Amino acid sequence: MSTLARTAVSYRGAAEGDSLSPARPGSRASSGAQGDGAKSASLALEGVSLSFGGVAALRDVDLAFADGSITAVIGPNGAGKTSLINVITGVYTPDRGRVVIKGRSYSRSPTSRLASLGVARTFQNLGLFKGLSTFDNIALGLSFAARSTIVEQALGVGRARAEVARTRRKTDEALEHLHLESYRDRLVGSLPYGVQKRIELARASVAEPHFLLLDEPLAGMTMDDKVEMTAFIRSVRSRLGATIVLIEHDIGLVMSLSDRVAVFDYGRKIAEGTPAEVQADQAVIDAYLGVPHADEEA
Ligand SMILES: Nc1ncnc2c1ncn2[C@@H]1O[C@H](COP(=O)(O)OP(=O)(O)OP(=O)(O)O)[C@@H](O)[C@H]1O
Ligand SMILES: [Mg+2]
Repeated sequence: MSTLARTAVSYRGAAEGDSLSPARPGSRASSGAQGDGAKSASLALEGVSLSFGGVAALRDVDLAFADGSITAVIGPNGAGKTSLINVITGVYTPDRGRVVIKGRSYSRSPTSRLASLGVARTFQNLGLFKGLSTFDNIALGLSFAARSTIVEQALGVGRARAEVARTRRKTDEALEHLHLESYRDRLVGSLPYGVQKRIELARASVAEPHFLLLDEPLAGMTMDDKVEMTAFIRSVRSRLGATIVLIEHDIGLVMSLSDRVAVFDYGRKIAEGTPAEVQADQAVIDAYLGVPHADEEA
């Protein structure tokens, strides 16, 4: 059995927490299931399966994301990558298994509390309001943190006044961090695709999440845009110390950007390890690396 396969198996059997009950301190789900034993993982999937009719999107997936790491999730089309993010964010309820967030284990991810738990995401096909400005789209990333009432907001008094000021400051900071100042008041729909992807990263990161789930943030970009975006993802991680889950097809960028790589095929995690380990894994070569992805052909 390969080292990678052994790592995967050693994580199997992680503590099956009760819904909403804290995972035991030191349990595998909370103490690093990634083989190094040193880092804790506040975000994990335990034995997650999900199917649509006869299609198994995820099959018995165990995966822990070490705090502060960048984990790339790779695999061919239909491998279950987006489904994995959708399970973490409660869009889909798994048929079996649990999502662990900050020591609590859920049979269904608590959608309404995700923002306060520090979970943010981007979408494979962009989740922006094209008729709103760049500023407004990014500011929406802070809306879940608002505590003022509608009356306070309408009158511009009390907590609302402070929140408006905070929103403006945080949004302007995000615009600066992602070099988007010149697009501040432009309608998003009129901007180049690569810029829109960057705006989405800004929206997802403006509330300073602990967990940032990025579904193909580099897809469809020019190589220059990809290199730039890669630097932005790195800077978000170092600025926020966030745990990043990155779905990406460009294997070169995956290898340079990620600390860990999890490889999926037909809903199953077929390998997990460092970029170098995964690149050398025969099952991965057979399933993925040896054949060009549809995006890379021609
Ligand atoms: N809402 C849904 N209804 C029915 N089938 C679905 C649904 N969502 C996903 N699937 C199926 O589940 C499987 C996994 O899909 P998923 O979108 O997670 O793959 P992916 O790895 O993100 O693929 P891609 O690289 O094309 O984005 C596919 O067979 C897909 O058709
Ligand atoms: Mg997808």
